[in-house]
Amino acid sequence: ATQNILLLPGDGIGPEVMAEVRRVLAVIEARGVLSLSIDEGLVGGAAYDAHGVAVSDGDVEKAKAADAVLLGAVGGPKWDGVPYEHRPEAGLLRLRKDLELFANLRPAICYPALADSSALKRELVDGLDLMIVRELTGGVYFGEPKEITDLPNGQKRAVDTQVYETYEIERIAKVAFELARVRGGRVTSAEKRNVMKSGLLWNQVVTAIHKSGGYEDVKLDHMLADALGMQLVRAPKEFDVIVTDNLFGDILSDVASMLTGSLGMLPSASLGAEDENGRRKSLYEPVHGSAPDIAGKGIANPLAMIASLAMALKYSLGKPDVADLLDKAISETLGEGLRTGDIWSEGMTKVGTTEMGSAVAKK
Ligand code: NAI
Ligand code: MG
Repeated sequence: ATQNILLLPGDGIGPEVMAEVRRVLAVIEARGVLSLSIDEGLVGGAAYDAHGVAVSDGDVEKAKAADAVLLGAVGGPKWDGVPYEHRPEAGLLRLRKDLELFANLRPAICYPALADSSALKRELVDGLDLMIVRELTGGVYFGEPKEITDLPNGQKRAVDTQVYETYEIERIAKVAFELARVRGGRVTSAEKRNVMKSGLLWNQVVTAIHKSGGYEDVKLDHMLADALGMQLVRAPKEFDVIVTDNLFGDILSDVASMLTGSLGMLPSASLGAEDENGRRKSLYEPVHGSAPDIAGKGIANPLAMIASLAMALKYSLGKPDVADLLDKAISETLGEGLRTGDIWSEGMTKVGTTEMGSAVAKK
């Protein structure tokens, strides 16, 4: 069957790195590996300039209908003065909300060729491949009440509220268990049940779904989130899939990204609920932003964007074998010493966006 892919290049280096995804997709199509229908839309400042909104209704509908959406990056100083509701980030937030992308997957992959740029010693991270599954649409970032009020004594009082309901924990736990099955077979669930009711419920629901959902082939551990943070920098290779709430996931995934030594190389996926045909809405994007400082120079690293395509092949397009080949091509290209400026070190061959993308596509 033909798979529908929507490309949303966005702003800054977004279009530059997306061009390299197109190059790889062209190879995949030419080999007859996959029958693709590729459409393109606008998001962020690019959409604002064209339509006066950070993403048009038409492009949101296209995103909903697509088998996978690939997004470059949004934002830049050019749009600093636009009305708040139309700022570039609003396009991304609307897509996440309208597609109900409740599961944010952030892998921390340490390519052997880059292990020396990690914040940790080479032997601790060489070959690291863990996945943080962060709940993205609930928790303390959204719970009500959320306010700052004035107190009679002249002081102020700030309130954020952490709220989780059973279904929210169930669906994110399922995503984590299913991922673990196609990875290393282990899930570590992190919360603070010792001090938070939401942590206690999280722990209970994850445990219950593990049993009742038929996931007992997956090994499940529970850790307090702070202890997990410690373990993440002490022995990160102990982990396979980590599932946690919105707040802890935000922090832990940023920590994990620094273990890889290559923030500009990390992909991400955001997944929505399964529909009646077992299909999920999904959005794939690099972790990095639009890098206005280097935009237009042809020197951006396209590997995070290409690795995001690999995630799409694995999780939305039913081609995990092709995804593995693509990841291998990235690793081998690095192994041969090709480096864009952001990951360059002495003795390596400095290349631009196009050369890097072409090298991967060729492999
Ligand atoms: P950034 O990730 O765009 O850039 C941080 C630094 O990393 C810059 O020095 C940049 O040149 C470098 N860098 C990032 N990606 C790179 C790549 N692929 N190759 C080579 N170097 C790379 O983050 P920053 O500077 O904080 O934000 C810039 C703009 O991007 C802002 O408007 C921000 O709002 C937006 N942004 C958008 C995101 C998204 O679309 N998901 C995420 C983060 C920021
Ligand atoms: Mg963060």
